[in-house]
Amino acid sequence: MNKIIFGGAFDPVHNGHINMALKAAKELDGEVIFVPARISVWKDVSAPIEDKMNMLKLAIEDKKELSIDEFELNSGKDVNYSIDTVLHFREKYPNDKLYFLIGVDQANAFHRWKEAERIAELLQVVYYTRPGYVEDKANIKKFHMHKIEGLGIEVSSTEIRELKSFEMPDEVLFYIVEHNLYEGMVELKSILSPHRLAHSKSVAKTAYEIAKANNLDNPLKAFIAGLFHDIGKDIPESEQFKLTKKYYPEYADIPKFAYHQFAGAHLVQKMFGIKDQDIIEAVEFHSTGNENMGLLAKIIYAADKIEPTRGFDSSDLIQAMKNDAEQGFKTVLQANKDFLLSKEKDINNRLTYKCFKQYLD
Ligand SMILES: [Fe+2]
Ligand SMILES: [Fe+2]
Repeated sequence: MNKIIFGGAFDPVHNGHINMALKAAKELDGEVIFVPARISVWKDVSAPIEDKMNMLKLAIEDKKELSIDEFELNSGKDVNYSIDTVLHFREKYPNDKLYFLIGVDQANAFHRWKEAERIAELLQVVYYTRPGYVEDKANIKKFHMHKIEGLGIEVSSTEIRELKSFEMPDEVLFYIVEHNLYEGMVELKSILSPHRLAHSKSVAKTAYEIAKANNLDNPLKAFIAGLFHDIGKDIPESEQFKLTKKYYPEYADIPKFAYHQFAGAHLVQKMFGIKDQDIIEAVEFHSTGNENMGLLAKIIYAADKIEPTRGFDSSDLIQAMKNDAEQGFKTVLQANKDFLLSKEKDINNRLTYKCFKQYLD
């Protein structure tokens, strides 16, 4: 069987890697072997090797044409040269056709690799195109490289680490969030108390499961909205009010418990670059509710009230949301209205009033 070696930092692995690997497996009719680098020659590594491996395993576990080889991780060397990796695979698979999959940017720099000519003799180098890069024709010819059309879109690992892009397998995002890996989670941790962070993760998970059960296009969107919904809550109240007055002046009259939802709607855009209007709406009204709410906003409103760590048995309400989020929302809304009344909390601000009127009357 053809073997396609795919090296990289995979810090973390994302949809760009997975989709490119699947495309190469199909076009070259073989198995793609991910070879994670111990220390990348090109960039700094920012998650522990064990975590990167765990994410890689999660990302490929249901794909039979993808596998992992830990040769470079186990080499004991700080720097691995590709020639050593190639010799290892040549020896391991003496009778298979071997390919080495690289990006066009690496193809253009290939003449600088250690023993580049020998690598090109030992196997077939294949490069994929990337937007914004023009191939160096001399290198392509000299090293007999073959071309595969790239995906035409770039996924940025940097943006993934900053939680600004979510182009990764669901399980990889869950892992990053659970283990607080990378800059985005560090930033989220810095703005939320530990208690609020735990609640936010639980809302994210609950919202994701509800979205999945209701066949939403992209359940990860619900996860993200849940993760961010309370990011305005642990900043000083004066700051919450300042942001509300500045960015949502039309809601400056709403009672102060709700400032955090408006401050949060501003912060998800400013801190995390979120542009998705459904996510922004979900954060903006998760506490008060509103009239004419989108489905994602309903899911986040509900998940916030019924996530399992809230301290009461909410399993029936969660099940109602999973069965039918539109109907379940009304059930959760009624339960929340009863709860707020029993605690003599405000239900007369104009947003909550309109929400109850539209969905409960
Ligand atoms: Fe909240
Ligand atoms: Fe919350």
